[in-house]
Amino acid sequence: MTHAGRLSGRFVALGITGSIAAYKSVELLRQLQAEGAEVQALLTPTATRFVALLTLEALSHRPAESDVMALLPDGRIGHIVTADSADAIVVAPATAHWLGAMANGLAADVITAACLATSAPVIVAPAMDGDMYAHPATQANVTRLRDQFGYTIVEPETGPLASGQTGVGRLAELARIVEAVVTAIGDRPIRAVGDADRPPRLAGRPRDADLDGRHIVVTAGGTREAIDPVRFIGNRSSGKMGVAIAEAALDRGARVSLIAGSVEVALPDAVEITRVESTAELGVALATLLQAGPAGRAGFDALIMAAAVADFRPRHPARAKLRRGSALTLDLEPTPDLLAEAVVVARHLWPTPILVGFAAETGSLERAVEKLQRKGVDLLVANDVAEAGSGFGTDTNRITLLAADAAAEAWPLLTKREVADRLLDRLAARLDARDGVAQTGRSDVPQEFRS
Ligand code: CTP
Repeated sequence: MTHAGRLSGRFVALGITGSIAAYKSVELLRQLQAEGAEVQALLTPTATRFVALLTLEALSHRPAESDVMALLPDGRIGHIVTADSADAIVVAPATAHWLGAMANGLAADVITAACLATSAPVIVAPAMDGDMYAHPATQANVTRLRDQFGYTIVEPETGPLASGQTGVGRLAELARIVEAVVTAIGDRPIRAVGDADRPPRLAGRPRDADLDGRHIVVTAGGTREAIDPVRFIGNRSSGKMGVAIAEAALDRGARVSLIAGSVEVALPDAVEITRVESTAELGVALATLLQAGPAGRAGFDALIMAAAVADFRPRHPARAKLRRGSALTLDLEPTPDLLAEAVVVARHLWPTPILVGFAAETGSLERAVEKLQRKGVDLLVANDVAEAGSGFGTDTNRITLLAADAAAEAWPLLTKREVADRLLDRLAARLDARDGVAQTGRSDVPQEFRS
């Protein structure tokens, strides 16, 4: 039985050594992923003769590491990055030779090197011929790994072996190995949140479903404020940025609610769409989503406010069409700041949703910095709408990402989809961090939400 999500947000290194049971490691990788883990494959040179790197790379979306001397494309040392970022290293299958190397600290392959360098829990599942496993040398090595190094040993099982004999030495059932990984990690905090501190993914490969199980609310497009039944005050928003975010979130496995004002682009089919016209209607749609579930539980994980919301509206919209006259003076009143209001409500929900605002500016970023603080959002996406290729109606954007708790990031000119993906990288990492904190049982977690 699998318990989806027990390794959600975790980064697990899977060490494969040269035993015939290496073919089972491919399925183990899948089972770790099914629990929500991102997996990095590490192989000894002999393991590469049993299982192809291509198989592991295609499934993990990460370059498999088999050369202890290799550097990552950015010059970092691969097995050290893995050692420093992995939440666990699981070696399955572990051969007699590898157990001997590990017991003696001989770091000639990427797996022993990573194990020596890590402070993460290590889980070892031996697999070999029965006599080899029973040999005092192997037994001494296993004992040393367990008793002196503190590694979890998932004992092999009895059954038919590759030699044709029957005995102890079959790799443990994969479910037992997954269980041992979950137990060894326990409620430790996630060690490296997000991509930057982990070894890189394969370039151009789709991201994993890192928003699987998340509910993301996106607002897109402009609002229209009625002057009379036929005329309105609107803005130049096309909705492209918000729709790109909704599509990108869908592709990463999220459930997406899209609240759309006036837009010039098609809305994706698979999202839950609420159409609104005015700021007041958008406010009602947001209030509905913000309603807490039982015991104050949030009904969504993040709100991304990409909509261009009117700042002013006619104080008294005419009920009948206004007639042509010599002049018309409109009496405008300010609209409520929906995002700032949503922040106040959302802070009382648990788990606290991540809140993202947008700021269309012309000129300096100072106002955006002030807006980040005034609205109380976690992230603010600021773009200069006066710049060519950025802002309303374009397919590209140059933005600066401001964070309440991190340095500003100026991104190059990117397509709106690329901006959406980068933003969701940050969001996914923050959600994982949020849940990582929740798992540690911090004292400010309300009692009723502690599990
Ligand atoms: N926003 C909102 N309600 C409003 C106006 C804006 O929720 N009445 C949201 C927008 O969706 C956006 C963020 O607030 O995510 C910033 O919008 P922006 O128009 O740049 O900021 P304002 O607060 O309107 O400030 P100003 O117009 O003075 O720049």
